[in-house]
This record gives sequence, structure tokens and C-alpha cells, in this order.
Amino acid sequence: MKLTLEEQDMLNGKYGNATRKAMEILITLGDIFDAEFMIDVYGVQIAGVSYANLGEAGLEFLSEMAVDGKVRVLTTLNPAGMDRENWQALGIDKEFAKNQNRVIDAFAKMGIITTCSCTPYLIGNSPHFGQHLAWAESSAVCYANSVIGARTNREGGPSALASALTGKTPNYGYHLDENRHSQVLIKVNVPVQETDEFGVLGKIIGDKLVKLGKKIPFITGIPSATVEELKSFCASVATYGGTALFHMEGITPEYDKYPKPSDIVFEINQEDFEKTRSELIDDDLEIDFVSIGCPHASIHEIAKIASLLEGKNVKKEFWITTARPTKRIADEAGYSKIIEDAGAKFAADTCCVVAPINGRFKGIMVDSAKACYYGRAKNKFKVKIGSIEECIEEAIK
Ligand code: F3S
Repeated sequence: MKLTLEEQDMLNGKYGNATRKAMEILITLGDIFDAEFMIDVYGVQIAGVSYANLGEAGLEFLSEMAVDGKVRVLTTLNPAGMDRENWQALGIDKEFAKNQNRVIDAFAKMGIITTCSCTPYLIGNSPHFGQHLAWAESSAVCYANSVIGARTNREGGPSALASALTGKTPNYGYHLDENRHSQVLIKVNVPVQETDEFGVLGKIIGDKLVKLGKKIPFITGIPSATVEELKSFCASVATYGGTALFHMEGITPEYDKYPKPSDIVFEINQEDFEKTRSELIDDDLEIDFVSIGCPHASIHEIAKIASLLEGKNVKKEFWITTARPTKRIADEAGYSKIIEDAGAKFAADTCCVVAPINGRFKGIMVDSAKACYYGRAKNKFKVKIGSIEECIEEAIK
């Protein structure tokens, strides 16, 4: 790779050991993917924050990088394994909390903003169209590339951290125009609305894309979509299809920038929709846990939850997972009091997937197709998808 003088200095250790290591990681990545040079990134999102995933080996790597590493660009974190203020109320044990805080402290030492959210674009790590990023977290990557029109590859924890410490990423993959063209045309013939339905749609498309070899889809037939619906769709299509970029006619900013694929590869009808929805509802289900906020709930979703819960009492464990800055807005607006008075709990900084709650509940109801996938695969819960209204009905009945 061709390096600038500054990049060469980073590699030679002029800016310290962590920066040197970071540059080595990026050069290795660039060599693998035939990048010719590095580009500057506007911001970084780091995943792999839960102590449950990192363990002592991951923490040791972070602590080593934190000795002299300092971030050069705006950098935020994915959800951690617990609510940093309210972990006891969520049943997290003391030992885990201690170790999780050691992880967060190492990130903080490097100058990373320890917000712990998978929706950085809702809380200030908000790139604009065309900006280059180095984001980890598959749902956020898909949202950044597709909905915002920014450019990022799907980074892993170490490469995202390396970009944070250098402000650089190798120029390959989704950073290049030629890799952002849509390859398959998908026609949606059913009306889709609300986060749960966009999640179901993401699973249908994701499952098909896996069979087609993970192509970039061009999706037609969706007349409108809210931010919340798109974040749910991104999480789902990234989970089931490994998709990091899609174009949606009339909705995403690059839909008419590149040539549109001419043949319709598949159409989605009511029957496909119902069939896939039923795959996200297990048999013999006993729901004892309801969770909304995968990806992290927006203030708009929290306002809706508050209006539905006002004056009611929840009978089941009920989490609203969100970013702490969003929770603070909810506090100021009075939504948190209504929600907590009803007996529901906020789980800021974390979520029902990354928190160490494997096996703690029998069945979970969510409005997210991604949470269904990991609820089963990681936490061994039975699952049911439903709208936010249906989740709340389940929680209070
Ligand atoms: Fe976010 Fe957790 Fe879902 S990280 S996308 S809320 S699985």
C-alpha cells in the first residue's frame, strides 16, 4: 500500500505503540483486500464490548492498546453486557459488572465515548451522505451505507479500534463506487408497516440473498418507511442475509445513482410474508419476558411505549433497551416515569441479546426479527414477534 508520510510515521512508532499496532492491522487488512491507499474516516463505531464476548483475552488486548492509544476521530461503542447505572435491577451479577466496567474503562482511557449503543446515528455519531466510516455492528453498518449513504465496510472489533486510533481505513469494499451497485431486483407486493413487519421483510430478503450469494438488493414496492422501520429492516436483513448495503426505490439516497438491475429476481407476496412471520413465532410458547429496542429504541418509540403503558401495570419482565442519551431525553419528557410506574424497566447501554441472561427466561416477545434470531441462538429462549402494541398487550395481560 502507498502510505503518506504521516501514515509511515504511525507505522514507525512515532505516535506510540498502540498507533503502530493499529497501523499494522490496517495495512494487513489493506493487503488482503488489495487496497492501494488509506482514506480518512469521519467516525468509528466499535462492537464487541460485552465482557461476555471479550473475556480476559480481549480485555488484555484492550488494556495494552490503552497504555498509550488515543482516538483521532469520533468513536462510540456498541451495547455492553449491562446497564451501567441500573445493572442490579436487571439481575446482573457483581463479578460480571466489575469486569464489564474494566472493559469500558479501557475504552474510555483511549478517548472513546462510552455511550454503548447500536444506534450511534441517533445519538450524535451521525455521518452525512458520502462520508467514510469504519463501523462495526452489522445493523448500523447497513443503516449507514443504505439509509444515510455513508460508506463503511463491516469492521470487526480490532479493525474498528485500529481506525479509531489512526483516523484511517484501507480504501476497498463499500468505500468504492464500483462495489455499491445493486445486483438483484426484488419487488415487494405486500404493504409493510411497523418495525415488526419491516423485520419480517428483512428476514425474507436476507434468507433469499444468502441463497443468491449475498448480492446487493434493489428493492421496489415500499412507498414509505420511517427511521424506526428502516433500522429494524437493516438489523434483520444484516442478520439473516449478511447484507451491508441495499437500495430501496424512492427511499434510500443512492437508489438512482447506479444502474438498476433489469430482471426481477423475486417477488414477495402475502403468502411469503405470512410464512416467514410464522417462522418467527415458536410453538408451545410461554412468554415471561418482553423486550423492545432492538436496535436501540428511538425517543419516538419510547414516546409510543409511554402512551400505551400509561396507567397500566406490566405483569412480566419488560425491558426497553436504548442508548443512555435517549433515556435522558425520555426522563426529561416524563416518559420514563410513566414507563417505570407501569413496572417496565429501562435497560440502557445494553440489550436483551448481549446481556448475560442465557436461559433466564422461557419465552421472549419482541418487535425485532434480529432479536428473535439471537434470542433463540444465543439465549436459548423461545420467541414471538409482534408489533409494539402487541408486545405491550402481552406484557400487561
Ligand atoms: Fe442492538 Fe442488541 Fe439488537 S446490539 S441491534 S439491540 S441485538
